[in-house]
Amino acid sequence: MATKSGEGFSSTFGAIMAAAGSAVGLGNIWRFPYICGKYGGGAFLLVYICFVFFIGMALMMSEFVIGRRTGEDPMKAYPKLRPNKPAWRFVGLAGLLTCFLILAIYLVISGWTLNYFWESLTGTLAGISDDGFGKHFSEFASSAGRPVVFVVLFLVFTAFVIIGGVEKGIERVSKLLMPILVVLLLVLCVRSLTLDGASEGLAYLFHPDFSKLTGEGILAALGQALFSLSVGMGVMIVYGSYLPVDDNIMKTSVWITVCDFAIAILAGIAIFPAVFACGQDPTGGPGLVYQVLPVVFNSLGTVGRVFSVVFFLLLSLAALTSAISLLEALTQWLSSEKIGRTMSAIVMSVAVVVLAVVASFSFGDGIMSGLKVGNLQLFDLLDKLTGTILPPICALMTIIFFGWFMKKDDIIDELSNHGTVKIGYFKVFYYFLVRFVAPAALLVVLISGLIN
Ligand code: TRP
Repeated sequence: MATKSGEGFSSTFGAIMAAAGSAVGLGNIWRFPYICGKYGGGAFLLVYICFVFFIGMALMMSEFVIGRRTGEDPMKAYPKLRPNKPAWRFVGLAGLLTCFLILAIYLVISGWTLNYFWESLTGTLAGISDDGFGKHFSEFASSAGRPVVFVVLFLVFTAFVIIGGVEKGIERVSKLLMPILVVLLLVLCVRSLTLDGASEGLAYLFHPDFSKLTGEGILAALGQALFSLSVGMGVMIVYGSYLPVDDNIMKTSVWITVCDFAIAILAGIAIFPAVFACGQDPTGGPGLVYQVLPVVFNSLGTVGRVFSVVFFLLLSLAALTSAISLLEALTQWLSSEKIGRTMSAIVMSVAVVVLAVVASFSFGDGIMSGLKVGNLQLFDLLDKLTGTILPPICALMTIIFFGWFMKKDDIIDELSNHGTVKIGYFKVFYYFLVRFVAPAALLVVLISGLIN
């Protein structure tokens, strides 16, 4: 419990659940399957694995080190480690602003998910014909009233947990929800894999098709790896500041990364075989889980209805623990001696819901669909910025700070818990990774992706 307020996670298990809760979210279950499908299945997966384990995990360790070493929010952490270069605080600021944008769009999609959970529960989805789901989704998402109701509802749940505190709110909820989520997902995987024609879906997910893996695809894989692990934007600095002093940062990061990766793969296994078995289009894009999966569920009769409820509940819970981490980062930053945790959480929630509502109105044929930057609607712009462009930029700045501006002795001291944990050759390997490999890879992918 390194923070000045004395708030922190009570145990390594609690810390892993909370951070894995942040990592596992819409990114794994909604986003990963559709972009994996878009950029060539197995080919995308190979690149993605490299980014997750070499760059994402290194960033996670680095953020944990920065957070626990300083016990500060990202804005204060950088200058605390480099007092003579206060400009580094802008890296913290950039990360927090990105978190704000991510949270806004995250709330919109979480609201859709909650609505679909509700519609599964009440039987509305079961009453729609197979070719009606596209229309149902676009009419719902473009309407002015209903999506907003669900966005607000979702945000209220999120803020409630934050106000509960780090240990009694975030840690407790994550410890409860994460195991439930894994069980629900395994149930869906078993059902999907036992459908006739499931193997085609697996082949689609795992068989590499390099012809579809473009430069844009590689940038998307990088953006997705960072987004999915919640790294690069300072959220893990915040959670790092809550890590127990005797926590082994390397081990904890490995656990979280493996967990996040495994859940993305399981989500793919739950989705693609079912999509193929029901003859649906696997390249359904962002609408995949809202337009294609309901058809799959309906074709399974009454059991399908149960699975539909389970799936959208799963997705809502995963989104909740991620939204919690985003709001927590913003709340921790705003809260001080003068405005406490509760007030900060409320102020941030109000600010972000305004942007979320505007983003929702600008989606599809919504009432603000004319709101465009260039030829992109605001919603699509936010999606592109937060999913592909901003994460690598923020991550690059973080890793440069870590590899080139933070004292090596401090890093080793923190990773080894002041010499009590053996890190051996890992030290050399890791340092090489954060100093050269990760920045170079981030830079190359970023530049080539942007030129495209
Ligand atoms: N990782 C989450 C997901 O996969 C999203 C998320 C939560 C996030 N906190 C973050 C992304 C911080 C970037 C930064 O859905």
